[in-house]
Amino acid sequence: MSVRIIGTGSALPVRCVGNGELEALVDTSDEWIRERTGICSRYVSTGETVASLAAAACAHALEDAGKESGEVELLLIATCTPEDALPCVACQVQERIGAVNAVAFDLNAACAGFLFALHTAWAYIEAGIYRNALVAGAEVLSKIIDWTDRGTCILFGDGAGAVYLEKCETGGQNGILGFAQHSDGRRGPVLSCVGRQSGNPYFRQEPLYPYVRMDGREVFAFAVRQVPEAIREAVGKAGIGVEDVDLFVLHQANRRILEGIAKRLSVDMERFPMNLDRVGNTSSAAIPLLLDELRHNGRIVPGMTLVLSGFGAGLTYGACVLRW
Ligand code: UT7
Repeated sequence: MSVRIIGTGSALPVRCVGNGELEALVDTSDEWIRERTGICSRYVSTGETVASLAAAACAHALEDAGKESGEVELLLIATCTPEDALPCVACQVQERIGAVNAVAFDLNAACAGFLFALHTAWAYIEAGIYRNALVAGAEVLSKIIDWTDRGTCILFGDGAGAVYLEKCETGGQNGILGFAQHSDGRRGPVLSCVGRQSGNPYFRQEPLYPYVRMDGREVFAFAVRQVPEAIREAVGKAGIGVEDVDLFVLHQANRRILEGIAKRLSVDMERFPMNLDRVGNTSSAAIPLLLDELRHNGRIVPGMTLVLSGFGAGLTYGACVLRW
C-alpha cells in the first residue's frame, strides 16, 4: 500500500506585474530585483481571493486525477492569508467545488504550510482514517504586504496550487518515502505579520502595523543552513542518498537561496527547477504551483524520486521524499 499524488492543479490571478512597474512604487530597479532574487514578475490579485484561487486549483487537481468532488474525504488548505477569520478557507472551497462529503479545515505554517498539510493528509490516509485528500496551498499575500517597503513588496506574489492524493494498492515502493518537519517559535519575530486590530472596549490597543515585517538576511541565512539538513534527514529516513534524487522541488523564495542550498548538498542546479522568475514567492502555494507546472510540461515522469522542501515564518521548515 502507498499514498500517492495522482492529480495536480494550479491557479494564478490574471494581473501580472513586472519588476519595471514596481520602480514606480518604491526606490528599486529591475536589475536589482533580478540580480538579488531572480524574480522578473509576479501575479497580483485584482479581486481574486484565497478561496477563489484555491477552489480553481482544487478543481483542476480533481479533473487531472479523474475524480468527482463528492469523492473527496479530506480537504486541507494551507494558507497564512485567509480573507476571513471565519469560516476557514477550506470550508469556503468545499462549498465552491461541491466537496460535500469532505471534512475541511485550514492549516497555517506559512511558506512550509503546503508541505505540513501534505504530511498531515498522508498521516490520516496511512492511519486508515481517510482514503484520499485534496491538499492546496493558496495565498493572496498582496493584501498583507506594505507596498511602500522595497525589502518585501518586490518578493511576493499571489496564487494557488493543489494536489489530490489517495491510497493506492501498488506493489512497488511509491508515494511518500520519508519526511522531516521542524518549527522554531523562538525565531518568530524574524518574519511576522500581526493580526487584526482588536475592538475590545476593555483593552485599548496601540494601532497595529498590519503588514509583513521581515529580516531578509536572517531568513536567507536560516534557509541556506537549515533546509539542507532537513533534506538530508528526510532522504536518510527514505533510505536513499541525495544523489538518488531526480528533482528538488523547493519553496520558491529567492534564486540565490536555492543556489546556496544546492551548493551545500553538492547537487547541480539543473536538478532545482524554478518558476520564481515568473511568479515570485507565493508562500504556501509555491511548491504545488511548481509541481503542477513540472507535471504538465513533462519534467516529472512516473518512477522519479522527488524532494519537496519548504521554509518560512514560524520559523518552520521541512522536506518530503516522494517516488512519483
Ligand atoms: O518565504 C520566505 C520569505 N522570505 C525570504 O525568503 C527572504 C529571504 N531573503 C532575501 O531574499 C534577501 O535577503 C532579500 C532579497 C530580501 C534582500 O537581499 P539582500 O541581498 O539580503 O539585501 P540586503 O537586505 O542585505 O540589502 C542590501 C542593500 C541595502 O542597502 P544598503 O544598506 O547596502 O545601502 C538595502 O537597503 O539593498 C537595499 N535594498 C534594495 N535596493 C533596491 C533592499 N531592497 C531593495 C530593493 N531595491 N528592492
